[in-house]
Amino acid sequence: MNYRHGYHAGNFADVLKHTALCELLHLLLSKDKKLFVLDTHAGTGGYDLAGKLAERTGEAAAGIARLIATPPAGRPAAVVRYLAAVAAYDRKFGPSSGGGLRRYPGSPRLIRAALRPSDRFIACELHAEDALSLRREFAGDRAIEVRQEDGYKVLKAMLPPLERRGLVLIDPPFEAADEFERLSRAVRQGLRRFATGCYAVWYPIKDEAAAAAFVATLEAPKRLVMELRLSGDAGEGKLAACGLAVINPPWRFEEAMAEALPWIASVLGGKARLVAPPTSAPAPASRA
Ligand SMILES: C[S@@+](CC[C@H](N)C(=O)[O-])C[C@H]1O[C@@H](n2cnc3c(N)ncnc32)[C@H](O)[C@@H]1O
Repeated sequence: MNYRHGYHAGNFADVLKHTALCELLHLLLSKDKKLFVLDTHAGTGGYDLAGKLAERTGEAAAGIARLIATPPAGRPAAVVRYLAAVAAYDRKFGPSSGGGLRRYPGSPRLIRAALRPSDRFIACELHAEDALSLRREFAGDRAIEVRQEDGYKVLKAMLPPLERRGLVLIDPPFEAADEFERLSRAVRQGLRRFATGCYAVWYPIKDEAAAAAFVATLEAPKRLVMELRLSGDAGEGKLAACGLAVINPPWRFEEAMAEALPWIASVLGGKARLVAPPTSAPAPASRA
């Protein structure tokens, strides 16, 4: 296990995934019913953008930093919510010397900030050092259960949740050659146990055919697929395209992302694609 999310925190892939995550949380938590959240591949929870790892790649400069530099008036509602969550996390550490964003929240931080006392949250991180960082990030916080375990196994064990309402974020590092197979198996197992759960599944697009074949395996009637492709040269060996498939999205999620996605693509310099299932209501103009 060599992957460390610290190298990539706040990059274009995080922007897509975390904007969608914040919107899912916003919509799911607008109902007055308990929610269970499982983050199967959690990372360390929070990232220092001036730290060794993030500085080495500087990926946040072409991601979150570009969004922050836009005039607030034109931002779509989902982006406003995402940027507010990012700023709230950064503020906890006080002003940075350069005045820019210094700390970036990973998925566990974004989830934790949104949850109510009645909700339940499990975050899994298998890498020993990152799991320790995650525990430290949430030391003394009883609203999150951190597990140093295989997130795929925990998914199988924890579904269906007692709450009967749930969000599962699956965001693997794609180091294993068979990660697409593991991912589709996990989604199948999840849906078999908990058919009404909401699943957000991130995937890289390095090989278009492989990514399309993976998406085709997600045979859920209610499925929304969002993809973002950067147009410039991302740099030798760097990821330039990724997707997020959301199964059983809450009402109004498609509408929110149809507004946010083309805007994000234009700010980051790329193209976005939003593919809704034929059974769902037609989305407003959504292609960038
Ligand atoms: C892409 S990163 C997660 C980023 C995080 N979800 C976020 O959005 O901030 C993937 C993480 O999964 C961890 N990991 C790899 N295999 C795992 C497994 N089987 N179960 C749980 N965590 C795993 C890696 O160590 C890495 O920290």
